Amino acid sequence: MNAYIRAIGVCRPKDVLTNADLEKIVDTNDEWITTRTGIKERRIVKDPNIMSSDLATAAAQEALEKAGLKPEDVDGIILGTIVADKVMPATACIVQKKLGCKNAWAYDITAACSFVPIALNNAALMIRSGQAKNILIIGTEIMSRIIDWKDRNTCVLFGDGAGAMLISETDDPDRGYINTYLKSDGTTDHILYVNQPNHENPYIQMDGQAVFKMAVKEMTTSVRKTLEMANLTVDDVDVLCPHQANLRIMEATADRLKIPREKVLMNLHKYGNTSSATIPIALYEAEQEGKLKPGQLVSMVAIGSGMVWGASLVRW
Ligand code: COA
Repeated sequence: MNAYIRAIGVCRPKDVLTNADLEKIVDTNDEWITTRTGIKERRIVKDPNIMSSDLATAAAQEALEKAGLKPEDVDGIILGTIVADKVMPATACIVQKKLGCKNAWAYDITAACSFVPIALNNAALMIRSGQAKNILIIGTEIMSRIIDWKDRNTCVLFGDGAGAMLISETDDPDRGYINTYLKSDGTTDHILYVNQPNHENPYIQMDGQAVFKMAVKEMTTSVRKTLEMANLTVDDVDVLCPHQANLRIMEATADRLKIPREKVLMNLHKYGNTSSATIPIALYEAEQEGKLKPGQLVSMVAIGSGMVWGASLVRW
């Protein structure tokens, strides 16, 4: 048995914050944000009573509905967030309760933007080993709550949202999970971090240029490693889905890999960087737009705080 991405659901909060809106909050302008990042607008959760688990639950419900599964059919929930509802329990357990997945186990992964390759690797290997048949992997973030809205270096970059991918077993030899490459370097823990909520500065701190350089280098390496492990080449890649952090990072990564731009999924302009949710939301929209078809070779690649990076290969 292998694992495949069976269905995706998303939650894109309805309130939109445009670059023009940001011009009224900090000393910035649409031209700077567009040329340096590619972002035009992002979604924001305004209601303080809405939590990351609510976004995650909505996204997961859509994925289950699309697959025709009931909450009881879910064996496990793996959730990624840097804006957890509580310090404990894991937000995954709160989502389990809200969904009614009474037969599942649930846990969180602290991997920030690198959530998808790590979670997909976890889920796929559990399914291959026979430990589970259906696993939800859910990235969910309310980044607007950990942003310093006076810091123009960071507040223009992020947005809120969630994406849930239902990973199920399959015996179809022409589709499914292939492999994952993962790596981290804890000596770079100072270039992208958030302190504890009771710290005098509890907001995102970032050395933008250091993150930028590392992102291009390591995302390129990660894609190459997965292809090498599978005896494939970049020419075999049909779709590249990079973590949506910065248009220039995605373009530079694709260029280094020599993957043409038309194969690269990009929806950052609408949502900004939603951390663990960017890849599921990009895949969801690509599927709706007919850009993803069964049998295509899809490479997903991400990097985030840690720094932690990695890529996964699947046959769609
Ligand atoms: N509006 C206008 N000016 C801004 C600004 C904003 N929102 N933010 C920064 N600036 C200014 C800086 O103060 C600096 O001014 P100075 O030259 O007078 O000092 C100038 O723009 C250039 O800043 P610099 O840091 O050199 O810009 P950059 O080209 O490196 O772009 C980032 C900055 C943050 C967009 C870019 O480094 C980046 O995207 N890094 C990766 C961030 C990321 O993806 N993080 C998450 C990873 S998971």
